[in-house]
Amino acid sequence: MSGLRARASGALSGQTRVPGDKSISHRALMTGAVAIGTTTISGLLEGDDVRRTAAALGVLGVVIERRAPGEWRVEGVGVGGLGEPAAVLDMGNSGTGARLLMGLVSTHPFVSHFTGDASLARRPMGRVTEPLQRMGAEFITRTGGRLPLAVIGTDMPVPIVYRLPVASAQVKSAILYAALNAPGETTVIEPEPTRDHSERMLRHFGATVRVTDAEGARAVTIGGQCELVGKAVAIPADISSAAFPLVAALLVEGSEIALPGIGVNPLRAGLLETLAEMGADIARANARELAGEPVADLRVRASALRAVDVPAARAPRMIDEYPILAVAAAFARGTSRFRGLAELRVKESDRLGAVARGLTQCGVKVEIDGDDLLVHGTGRPPRGGARIATELDHRIAMAFLVLGLASEQPVAIDDAQPIDTSFPGFGALMGALGADIAPADDPPMIESIESRAAETGAGGQKWS
Ligand code: S3P
Repeated sequence: MSGLRARASGALSGQTRVPGDKSISHRALMTGAVAIGTTTISGLLEGDDVRRTAAALGVLGVVIERRAPGEWRVEGVGVGGLGEPAAVLDMGNSGTGARLLMGLVSTHPFVSHFTGDASLARRPMGRVTEPLQRMGAEFITRTGGRLPLAVIGTDMPVPIVYRLPVASAQVKSAILYAALNAPGETTVIEPEPTRDHSERMLRHFGATVRVTDAEGARAVTIGGQCELVGKAVAIPADISSAAFPLVAALLVEGSEIALPGIGVNPLRAGLLETLAEMGADIARANARELAGEPVADLRVRASALRAVDVPAARAPRMIDEYPILAVAAAFARGTSRFRGLAELRVKESDRLGAVARGLTQCGVKVEIDGDDLLVHGTGRPPRGGARIATELDHRIAMAFLVLGLASEQPVAIDDAQPIDTSFPGFGALMGALGADIAPADDPPMIESIESRAAETGAGGQKWS
């Protein structure tokens, strides 16, 4: 394992383009794979998660080529045209890749085997296998409905009407991708709206997707056995990745950065709403659309933040942003409460626990109250001076490095590798903005950081 450490540096400045959106990248590859003809993708995220999806689709018989950085070509096989995989589909760390692809293959009449890393093998798959069984697929899972698992796809798919028991875009999308090869119409009803990238992407390729109101819930209906046609897809920059330099710029005094081309889909951009409530200075300009997705340029200036109370209903619209939001709250004045975070326990790590432990190690007072997280901010930088276990979780890794850029003492993470799943080049990109992030290989390193911090009273950052 190789670690990184972050410490206070000067103000961050400049313009930077963060990598392509992870959710949309998976969907562009999968939709292109079952369209007829050629799909060309630009700005594809080349993180490990998305590469696993591309590789798995290759094993399923789809020709996918990388033509230049971010530029990919997919030769689609048409709806129902995937072939039985002769190898295990190893989805690495990616819940999205695993769950959406399980949906796609479940209505193909062959057997597929899925596996993943230690993090993915801990995550619940029953939420996906249950509705897919109703559509006719069978599964042999490890105890507790976990990976590795086998999917026995059905040759007689049944369309369903399914009410999501948890607010999950992955579950919704697994059903929609399964429904592509089922006859008739399949409907997913979601009590809380979740990210609608699948709906937008499928429409972009020619699917009929209707969204209606079902007694206050959002009902998504897709017409099955449709013909999808290969398209050009430009992927917006990932708001969930942009969140890290964005919060860093808010926290490091004197900073001002520009983040162009960020996806600002209203069902993803809950973080921007929340930071605005905290008093963050974030301006949007040049609103436009890319492949059916809203995009804007963001300009961020360092800001004195105040505490916020985030309602549970907003959680699905910013579910991946709680680790970095909790870091922002640690610098804000007052007690922040983030409500209804049960789903955070089943992400790449138990993020509720990992955030609470890490902040505590950094000298921040936190509480977990049921499914709520409370962060007691003082309006001043926290102490920092800790070595954080990233637990195979990219967002925990990046969130605590951002904390270290503005805390009194440096912060180290034990393992930087997970960052490559979603944000390859994170360290270099942050460095180009002026952040001081460097390798920190083993535990003795942090001891020396701690003793140096104790000697010098580092980071030396002023805060007003
Ligand atoms: C995603 C949905 C969310 C999110 C994940 C990506 C997607 O997961 O946390 O990073 O692309 O559909 P859930 O559906 O489990 O909430």
